[in-house]
Amino acid sequence: MRLSHRLVGVAMISAIAGLSGAALSGAALAQSPTPPGSDPAVPPAPRPAPPIASPIPPILAPGRVLLGVKDVMRHIVNPAAEAFWARSGEVDDEKGAKDRTPVDDENWKVSLDSAAQLVEAGNLLQMEGRARDPNGPWMKYAIQLTNAGLSAMSAAQAKNHDKTFEAGSAIYDSCFACHGRYIPRPKDSLYKHDIDKDLQDAKKPK
Ligand code: HEC
Repeated sequence: MRLSHRLVGVAMISAIAGLSGAALSGAALAQSPTPPGSDPAVPPAPRPAPPIASPIPPILAPGRVLLGVKDVMRHIVNPAAEAFWARSGEVDDEKGAKDRTPVDDENWKVSLDSAAQLVEAGNLLQMEGRARDPNGPWMKYAIQLTNAGLSAMSAAQAKNHDKTFEAGSAIYDSCFACHGRYIPRPKDSLYKHDIDKDLQDAKKPK
């Protein structure tokens, strides 16, 4: 029992120290019940290596594309756009037109945050390895998204009703332009949430 526990211990220490499988089994076989270090024929088990200075694994190397376009759309672009649109324009309900422009700082902050996410999302779409068509209009549409996001940021910073609405339309135009060119299916099938309807509602006069 004692022996096998010690073998497991040696195996773990060797694995931590990064010894190869061959060295590991050799060390394990050579091991005897003698305490390590007391038998000159058996070298003491190596100490674990000190922690490396930068624990960042290679997959997180700077500038590396990690998510595909679809996931960037699904988890970054679409939620940000939805959050912005939900706080701009008007919707009609049974009580009449309802202005969705934020009335408190908390919601203006959500508008500003989501606009900022769209600004950088435009950059994400231009990254090598993600840009679908670096020599075609893809880059232009990605920049269009960034620019619309910048207008949305200033609108939210100014807490301006009309500018927020205009920026919301500009954001929509960039989605529409890129999808029209790069998605070979009807645009309506894209959306889990009905963006078209949102925009239509938002454009209804007061
Ligand atoms: C520069 C091009 C580009 C821009 C700008 C763009 N998209 Fe996309 N989007 C795509 C492409 C390409 C796909 C299809 C990805 C795939 O299926 O692999 C897509 C797919 C989507 C999807 C479907 C994701 C899924 O789950 O299948 C949604 C939702 C979406 N986009 C929302 C938006 C919204 C909202 C905007 C604007 C705020 C926008 N996109 C702007 C290129 C773009």
